[in-house]
Amino acid sequence: MAPATFKLNTGQDIPALGLGTWQSPPGAVSAAVATALKDGYKLIDCAYCYGNEDEVGQGLKEGFASGVGRESVFVMTKAWCTYQTRVELALDKSLKSLGLDYVDLFLVHWPVAMNPEGNHDKFPTLPDGSRDIIRTHDHVATWKMMEKLLETGKTRAIGVCNYSKRYLEELLPHCTVVPAINQIENHPNLPQQEIVDLCNEKGIHVVAYSPFGSTGGPTMKAEPVVKIAEKKGISPSTVLLSYHVARGSTVLAKSTNPDRIKANMDIVDLDAYDMKLLTDHSEDLAKNNKLTRYVYPPFGVDFGFPDKS
Ligand SMILES: NC(=O)c1ccc[n+]([C@@H]2O[C@H](COP(=O)([O-])OP(=O)(O)OC[C@H]3O[C@@H](n4cnc5c(N)ncnc54)[C@H](OP(=O)(O)O)[C@@H]3O)[C@@H](O)[C@H]2O)c1
Repeated sequence: MAPATFKLNTGQDIPALGLGTWQSPPGAVSAAVATALKDGYKLIDCAYCYGNEDEVGQGLKEGFASGVGRESVFVMTKAWCTYQTRVELALDKSLKSLGLDYVDLFLVHWPVAMNPEGNHDKFPTLPDGSRDIIRTHDHVATWKMMEKLLETGKTRAIGVCNYSKRYLEELLPHCTVVPAINQIENHPNLPQQEIVDLCNEKGIHVVAYSPFGSTGGPTMKAEPVVKIAEKKGISPSTVLLSYHVARGSTVLAKSTNPDRIKANMDIVDLDAYDMKLLTDHSEDLAKNNKLTRYVYPPFGVDFGFPDKS
């Protein structure tokens, strides 16, 4: 079944499936992006922080040269924490690397600002080794700068990543523009239902990252995932990707392997019984304090996630 699209609060269509590029080595990511576009992917997720946007740009160029139209591809990238006092510079740098004159969506990568004049472009540290964070910088101030970017035409929409319910509730009363999406870690081992529910209520589309639990694919071994895969004669990865589409979310899957890039396009319908198995599994983990967050950079900041607060 061809992946569907969802409607954003901006009126744009966003594909249900996208290619992730985090930890895709520069030497492999351009081929992965070009392959994905030729296979029919219409969404590419990037970030300045991933350190590979020049090569992602080469992959986009190759895809466009093969006949894929720029307008048919949804490209999103993110302002890293050291750029949250200068988001337009972040966007300019990404556009230059990607070889684009606009992105479809520009995101706040994490709601925390790090020192732009610290000892490292991406991960500045203090003498004690902790991250060099601007503790006085309010994440709402970053959002106000993001809103101004819409006037430049360099991005068609703006959104956030890694916003908990608490952070969203702090942000929303100050928004002139409601974020188009919230990109969060999401899978049956970390359903983050309270965020998904709030986003649905406020018209913010959820984009799920690390559906396989990132490196090593730990969520592929979850009991109901294996059970559903065996019953339907499909792979655990297909179950995990299809779970999000059934929840009304877009999902990002990273691979640099051509066979897996293609295989990940296989999204199937999960019925109410399968979804209940997955939801029961999540509720069971929640009850026993066993939810697992696989991606949690050591900022030393309480982002308001119940499993980490
Ligand atoms: N906003 C944020 O803060 C944030 C944070 C994390 C991730 N993201 C985005 O979300 C994307 C996806 O998340 P992720 O990269 O953390 O992890 P992921 O997509 O959950 O997992 C990637 C891992 O699964 C493997 N894999 C992919 N397809 C497979 C398949 N069909 N069967 C078996 N193994 C498979 C990949 O290896 P191979 O490459 O060898 O196939 C890789 O090791 C990222 O790349 C990034 O774009 C955003």
